[in-house]
Amino acid sequence: MDKAFFVESIGGDIGVIYFDLPHEKINKLSTPVMDELSQLLDDIRKQSAWKAVIFASRKPGIFIAGADIKEIEDVSDAEQGYRLACRGQAVFQKVADLPYLTVAAIDGACLGGGLEFALACRFRVVSDHEKTSLGLPETKLGIIPGFGGTQRLPKVVGLPKALEMITSGSTVDGPKAYKIGLADEMAHSANLLDKAVQLVRHVQKFGSKKYLRRRGTRGPLKWLERTPGLREIMFSQARKAVLKLSKGQYPAPLKAIVAIQAGANAIFPARAYEKEARIIGELIPSPICKNLIHLFYLTEAAKKDNGLALGTLAPPAKPLQRVGVLGAGVMGGGIAWLLAHKDVFVQLKDIQEKALQTGLAHAADLFEKRLKQRRMTADAFKRAMLRIRATLDYNAFHSLDAVIEAVVEDMKIKKAVLRDVEKSVSPQAIIASNTSSLSISEMASALRFPERFGGFHFFNPVHRMPLIEVIYGKQTSPETLVALMDFARKLGKTPVPVKDGPGFLVNRLLVPYMNEAALILQEGGAEAAALDEMVAEFGMPMGPLTLIDEIGIDVGYKVIDILYHQLGERMKPAQLVFDVYSAGWLGKKSGQGFYVNHGSRPTLNQGLEALIEKTRLALNLKPKRIPSEDAFDRMILPMINEGARCLEEGIVRHAGDADLAMVFGTGFPAFRGGLLRYADSRGVAALVDRLHYLRQNYGDRFRPCAYLERLKTENKGFYELAKERAHASAV
Ligand SMILES: NC(=O)c1ccc[n+]([C@@H]2O[C@H](COP(=O)([O-])OP(=O)(O)OC[C@H]3O[C@@H](n4cnc5c(N)ncnc54)[C@H](O)[C@@H]3O)[C@@H](O)[C@H]2O)c1
Repeated sequence: MDKAFFVESIGGDIGVIYFDLPHEKINKLSTPVMDELSQLLDDIRKQSAWKAVIFASRKPGIFIAGADIKEIEDVSDAEQGYRLACRGQAVFQKVADLPYLTVAAIDGACLGGGLEFALACRFRVVSDHEKTSLGLPETKLGIIPGFGGTQRLPKVVGLPKALEMITSGSTVDGPKAYKIGLADEMAHSANLLDKAVQLVRHVQKFGSKKYLRRRGTRGPLKWLERTPGLREIMFSQARKAVLKLSKGQYPAPLKAIVAIQAGANAIFPARAYEKEARIIGELIPSPICKNLIHLFYLTEAAKKDNGLALGTLAPPAKPLQRVGVLGAGVMGGGIAWLLAHKDVFVQLKDIQEKALQTGLAHAADLFEKRLKQRRMTADAFKRAMLRIRATLDYNAFHSLDAVIEAVVEDMKIKKAVLRDVEKSVSPQAIIASNTSSLSISEMASALRFPERFGGFHFFNPVHRMPLIEVIYGKQTSPETLVALMDFARKLGKTPVPVKDGPGFLVNRLLVPYMNEAALILQEGGAEAAALDEMVAEFGMPMGPLTLIDEIGIDVGYKVIDILYHQLGERMKPAQLVFDVYSAGWLGKKSGQGFYVNHGSRPTLNQGLEALIEKTRLALNLKPKRIPSEDAFDRMILPMINEGARCLEEGIVRHAGDADLAMVFGTGFPAFRGGLLRYADSRGVAALVDRLHYLRQNYGDRFRPCAYLERLKTENKGFYELAKERAHASAV
């Protein structure tokens, strides 16, 4: 391997070691890198002229991105994981034991193993560059920091802050790192090295008191932290906070607390390090860790995805800086906010003055929340609101780069609106629809230039949901698709390209899930709460009946009905959904649906039992309890079956697209790696058999699709097939 570390010296008594991993855009800590570093540390111990050493990076925007994830992925047993951690700890201990002042000069990402390295230095200097971020995100990958991070971070930032940072995996920027004492000094990127040298000179002259004062917990919490009995309160609160968020489904943050606790209570620190290494050893081979790594790879790939067939080179993406939003309703208001928040100039158009006022108020509300949380200044708030111009006409539309249509869900109205838009914008402007269920290709037939038109499907609420389905119709050009994919990323969202088709991807998969729950309910198969709890335990953020209440029973019914007309019998709406809708129970927005939504927690709608009884009578059904494993599979397996159909029809390019969309669009449990990865973990052949069983017992809609049958015959999983295809296209 070519060298990764380069040594220079400043003024004779300060050594500077630059990390610059050859042939890579980022610095990461692989075994060969750690070996080289270890040898280098042994060598520089003998540099008698040095009084200090500064560690820096030559990669723009990166200090050290972390340990090599590929190596973590490859670890298959606890002993191997333990040894990897011990090796990392030993190398970083060499850094801590250097007989000089050590300073990490951090400009750019300093994450995971990178921050553990920096924590082993005696001082840290950060740049105020926007790319600078420091954190230990290991718990997001189902592991804990294993190179001493759980031991060293609490000593630097104090126990409460370290508990929060490690259990959440959150990062801080340069100014925040400086504020919380994680960094000792801050400077502009160009002056970072000078600042590090100044720090060295200061410490040589006056000692390190100035810096050490800023470390650890400050204020009254300091006493709590220092008193062994009381310190336990901090751990128990941290545990409660983790359990509330993770519902006990993610073991890593809880295990991280155990490692931190071992360090805080340790008489012999070496034992706490040993504990840290043992814990990470146990976690690395777990399926949860591998699933989270799988999602990490998918997310990283989405950052570069141009939306075209894999491996296709893309035309450069057209930047969209001035964008029109049509319709200032629930979605339009949210979209206008997001655009303004991301520095895009917005023309928000509606046909009603009142709707415009509501849309603007919605955007202002969202900004005000950020203002209150001190995530933006009053000045930035004013400037952001000025980026939204509300209008009732198309006068200023000629200067726009793009228009996003979010008017009512009605094909006729949408076509008329699109025709008007096309007349008002330049021929280069991109036009996109936020429709959730109408055909993009059909809408395009209203346009003279259908190639510049596509779908841009946000999820509700826009400010929270991380997914955008970027829909390409029959005539959408590659340039349009690439520009929309790029724009979604600019807005901070994860884009997944989806070919136009009924319900696109996410809604098409959610419909049988919600509808099936209503069918089970009307058959008397299980109670509503039991069905919802079953899937919540599986890890879904909410059960199917709570979900349809959230969406609105009217909207939910309409979407199921649309898919029924387009995809046939298997999507036939449950009579009960129609009956709940006809009873005027529209879900959360009307106060009641399957549940009553008045207090902070939804309670069961007391009228529901009688309504189910009526529905059953009308359908001439006898109530029949069903085994809970059948109920569960009836809700989950149709999603997999439908996902397989989407692959068969080319709605998505590969299993990874479907998994990314389901995790980010529906909250499908990340620790399961996505819907189709979950299917692989159960074994596709076994699932096909289960579907046949469900078909025999509950109806033909469970018939496995041809794609699934083929996977069974070939004894393959979704991802094996995807890998083979990628390999075939590469060859
Ligand atoms: N609400 C959701 O959960 C959700 C989620 C994803 C996508 N969508 C889609 O977003 C679109 C809008 O949905 P919504 O929930 O915001 O609807 P909404 O009813 O809240 O808002 C629609 C707005 O469009 C305005 N409008 C109607 N005709 C117009 C015209 N000719 N020009 C300009 N404005 C016009 C209306 O006055 C209204 O303010 C729909 O296509 C819907 O399917 C909705």
